[in-house]
Amino acid sequence: MKDFAGKICFITGAASGAGLGQAKVFGKAGMKVAIADIRQDALDKAVEEIVAYGIKKEDILALKVDLTNREQYKAAADKVEEVFGGPPHLLIQTAGVNSFGPIEASTFDDFDWVMGVCLDHVVNGLLIFVPRMIKAYANKTEFHVATTSSMGAFMAGSGTGPYSAAKAAVNNLMYSYAESLKPYGAGATVLCPGNINSNIGNAEKYRPENLKNTGYHVSEGTMKTLRAIHADGIDPIELAEILKEGIEKGRIIVLPSRDTEAWAAQLRAQNEIIEDYTLPAPEREAKAAERMKEMMKRFAPAEGEDGKDAPRPMWGVPEGGEPFGKARDDLDWIDPNKKL
Ligand code: NAI
Repeated sequence: MKDFAGKICFITGAASGAGLGQAKVFGKAGMKVAIADIRQDALDKAVEEIVAYGIKKEDILALKVDLTNREQYKAAADKVEEVFGGPPHLLIQTAGVNSFGPIEASTFDDFDWVMGVCLDHVVNGLLIFVPRMIKAYANKTEFHVATTSSMGAFMAGSGTGPYSAAKAAVNNLMYSYAESLKPYGAGATVLCPGNINSNIGNAEKYRPENLKNTGYHVSEGTMKTLRAIHADGIDPIELAEILKEGIEKGRIIVLPSRDTEAWAAQLRAQNEIIEDYTLPAPEREAKAAERMKEMMKRFAPAEGEDGKDAPRPMWGVPEGGEPFGKARDDLDWIDPNKKL
């Protein structure tokens, strides 16, 4: 898709972070932007920010929706058609949450919340919008579906179970759509960021009341650590520009940098890890230890440097923070090393 001006864009999770960046960038490209999010206060602020970025207020439609709720999502889709005169030409599903802890500590609430937002909402949007988009635009004008996934789609740590599972599923869904939409003159793109300067470190604060029974250790301190990590992430506007360029070029996967080769190398390294899963255990574990040693070297300051500007390992804990990814203290089957 190359022509955006005058067309309609529907962005989920657009009240902050990556989605808000996308609303600004695609709004600047001349699109009418519908922004859907669960937080009304954040939506109100987002509209102000998008207007301040130079987009006319009448070209913005803010919708308070729990995107995991199909009836609410359908009502939002109807509203977009009513206000903007048709379904979106560009659907970008970016809403997401995360929560980290040992997979064996996970509760049904952990899975339902994380997979509900990161995967089910994407399925909801595709099933609600794609038929409408095909009917309205197939082989008449360009249209496209995009989803914000994660580099987490290509890897899974012991503390990222529901999130990595959801993101891997989202990637595969988007590969299916990329093939399926071709005969209609449309395409699909999955954006796989590494780290974004966003609000996601606060996600636990708005975990729904009915899904609050987590098996993970969650506190102000763990959120502080996550906020510090995400503060080092890519700027959402820059990320949205990269996504826009990726959509224009017809990429199916968009990696979070203009240095595509660096990220392709990262992908190859991830694929090697997966390939190593086929090895007998001792061989695999020796390779994993070697890889970890190499990685730690990247974080060590070079000779003569004080290390102030060196890349920080993702698991650094700031002052007043707490390590995240631990289990709740009262779960009696959990290895004590996996508790705080
Ligand atoms: P963010 O927290 O700033 O934005 C996510 C938005 O989704 C929030 O505004 C939130 O209110 C909304 N949301 C959550 N549950 C919802 C629901 N049920 N219905 C409607 N809206 C809901 O976070 P960020 O980082 O901008 O996240 C955007 C996407 O990027 C997510 O899919 C996330 O998984 C992905 N991502 C984030 C990374 C990061 O480092 N922050 C790295 C890789 C991927």
